[in-house]
Amino acid sequence: MQYFVTSNAPTTHKTECVVVAVFEQGELSASASVLNQHANGYIQTIIDRGDISGKAGQTILLQDVANITSPRILLVGCGKKEATSENDFISAITASAKLLNDLGATEATTCLAEIDVKQRSAEWKARQIVISTETALYLYSATKEIKPAKHPLQKLGFFADDNAEQLELAIARGQAVATGMNLARELGNLPGNICTPTYLANQAIEIGQRFETVTTRIIDESEMEELGMGSFLSVSRGSREPAKLITLNYNGAGDDRPVVLVGKGLTFDTGGISLKPSQGMDEMKYDMCGSASVFGTISAIAQLNLPINVVGVVPSSENLPDGDANKPGDVVTSMAGKTIEILNTDAEGRLLLCDALTYSERFNPEIVIDIATLTGAIIVALGNHATGLMANNQDLADDLLKAGNDSFDRTWQLPLWDDYQQQLDSNFADIANVGGKEAGSVTAACFLSRFTEKFTWAHLDIAGTAWVSGKAKGATGRPVPLLVQYLLNRIESK
Ligand code: BES
Ligand code: MN
Ligand code: ZN
Repeated sequence: MQYFVTSNAPTTHKTECVVVAVFEQGELSASASVLNQHANGYIQTIIDRGDISGKAGQTILLQDVANITSPRILLVGCGKKEATSENDFISAITASAKLLNDLGATEATTCLAEIDVKQRSAEWKARQIVISTETALYLYSATKEIKPAKHPLQKLGFFADDNAEQLELAIARGQAVATGMNLARELGNLPGNICTPTYLANQAIEIGQRFETVTTRIIDESEMEELGMGSFLSVSRGSREPAKLITLNYNGAGDDRPVVLVGKGLTFDTGGISLKPSQGMDEMKYDMCGSASVFGTISAIAQLNLPINVVGVVPSSENLPDGDANKPGDVVTSMAGKTIEILNTDAEGRLLLCDALTYSERFNPEIVIDIATLTGAIIVALGNHATGLMANNQDLADDLLKAGNDSFDRTWQLPLWDDYQQQLDSNFADIANVGGKEAGSVTAACFLSRFTEKFTWAHLDIAGTAWVSGKAKGATGRPVPLLVQYLLNRIESK
């Protein structure tokens, strides 16, 4: 998709379709009202007939309206005029993108960025229009035949007043985030028999080839053995697919200390000997969405050439039951030297992450953030709306909460108090890998916290936000927007 900015007026601009907002109770947006005047009240007449109520996401297409240059006007409902929410705004963009894609038109110009959305800036709205449009038009086709649109939307324009330059920047950022999200979605949606640890490693190599600023290194099992990653390797021992520790190094700021992003890369999680129930187990192909978000974020910041250093660290494996797999009660030794009693082989993510976190120390990180589909318990706590956040530093937690609000890819903090740590006591090792049924997301983070004492660290549990189940089953691309926003805010505050 291409985007452009015009300083023409909606009434005289030549476009195949002009998109304008209408609201509940028949109210018109500024541009809708100007078009209405030019068209001698025609738009108001249509609305007064009651064919569109203005509810967010409703649409009505007008053709060949007298005195208007464009052959089509698309009216899109945006909810209440004084109280359009971000969700209303996104529904309106999504509905118009899908409708435009199915029209004979391949080009359109949108006025949606002019409406009030909770004090959001014009740049925020433009960026969101790009992200939500690309999200709406993403189609999975790797293993399924799809009918492409006959006249797909190829060009979308924005009307600028005196802010053309800011809009161009917002569009570029939106495109980079959307491309990163769609990469993350594609990797997430690929089945476990295609998207293996080796496949992810090859993806990382491709990203390294695409950008001069990114170098990729793949560490194989024998090297992990030398590094002493006994915890990570204990999980991969049950699988025939060789495990990979993938590192992506984005260099945009000389020798500044990097932000390290550690992404859980379980390409399939059966639970191992502590086998999961079969209902919905297919969704455990999404257990690599943390790693996919690291790839998506690094490709987005490389596309934007951001002045920052970021290292992606992705431990990738399968978790399968096997004669060689971990058994409940097994004790393994992590790279940090701590012994771990594996009381549940399904708590495998933390077994990979602890060694990847220890490995991160060698990058002398300023910040470490891990991103993981770590616990079902976070879905019980927060549902599908917020990513769970826990941190050993409140400033970092505050920065991530803010980045979540800024990007509307939100997080919610849970406590990481010492009070919970005792749930991980073991009679036979330094630490147990599970902490009982209470506060499962917190004890998972407590486990990780034992391996992050040397740096400033936050944990993002994306089990509820990385994909949706049901009829619309598919990866979401979250939390790429959150992570890119966090890095942008970091650059701006320096
Ligand atoms: N990948 C799962 C977490 C998960 C479960 C994400 C369901 C999304 C939906 C993780 O490896 C896991 O199995 N966690 C266990 C931990 C438990 C054994 C302490 C869980 O949440 O049940
Ligand atoms: Mn598991
Ligand atoms: Zn898992």
